[in-house]
Amino acid sequence: MTTVSNPPLSSRMCTQEQLESHRFRAWAERLAEEPARLHRKLWEYCYIAEALAERGMLQPGITGLGFAVGTEPLASLFASSGVTVVATDMDPEEAAAKGWVDTNQHAAGIDALNDRGLCPDSVFRTNCSFRAVDMNDIPEDLTGFDFVWSSCAFEHLGSIEHGIQFVVNAMRCLKPGGVAVHTTEFNCSSNDATLTEGGTVLFRRRDFEEIARRLHADGHDITLDFTAGSLPADHFVDLPPYKQDVHLKLMLADYVCSSYGIIARAAS
Ligand SMILES: C[S@@+](CC[C@H](N)C(=O)[O-])C[C@H]1O[C@@H](n2cnc3c(N)ncnc32)[C@H](O)[C@@H]1O
Repeated sequence: MTTVSNPPLSSRMCTQEQLESHRFRAWAERLAEEPARLHRKLWEYCYIAEALAERGMLQPGITGLGFAVGTEPLASLFASSGVTVVATDMDPEEAAAKGWVDTNQHAAGIDALNDRGLCPDSVFRTNCSFRAVDMNDIPEDLTGFDFVWSSCAFEHLGSIEHGIQFVVNAMRCLKPGGVAVHTTEFNCSSNDATLTEGGTVLFRRRDFEEIARRLHADGHDITLDFTAGSLPADHFVDLPPYKQDVHLKLMLADYVCSSYGIIARAAS
């Protein structure tokens, strides 16, 4: 009998086919989410978890650094696998001023990070620590991690250039051969006009190509895939106030957007 193994994930956009794959459904179940939910946020969490798992990163002895963790479930998921996690988010006062606290999207400390109960509390408190970190000014002592991750965050750093700089700078937090996984907004309808500055920016294909160019110049490894999905949910665009059950693509400003994930391997 021939064993067919799934190809490893590369940098790519969110699609219905991937979210419905058995690999992603298994992560959705572990995240205590409704596995059939066709939502790009769920895709982002499953993508990050699957990318790290298939690179051997979700096991005891591994160290992970999360940026802008907010109220996401990944720090507790990774801690439950035995990973030593440093979870970070921006300074609480600054986050309050920017509206992240009022919308319940900011983590002020470790207490909110295991509220889904994905990790036994004693294990969580042993394996996970928290500190305030500005993604635009990563402290120099944050080095030597096996992996770094961020979900839905580097589009909020003020400009396209700030987002690109963050991805490049975060590679310095890794050991040689370490893995970075980040998800963000992808403007799928324009490779030209986009939101380039402000509270949320929208990355175009050419911006991801620029990220890859800069990472390659530093000796890191990244492969980009822009394959678009062709199933019904890939063609549905959710409109404000974004209440539809199907939410893989949405209209933001004048652009059709989705999520894009980046996986990069640090130079060894
Ligand atoms: C949309 S929320 C995403 C939160 C979480 N990662 C998730 O997926 O649910 C954006 C996050 O970015 C954080 N953030 C915004 N600007 C930041 C900065 N300059 N440095 C660190 N975190 C920042 C906010 O505090 C918030 O936690």
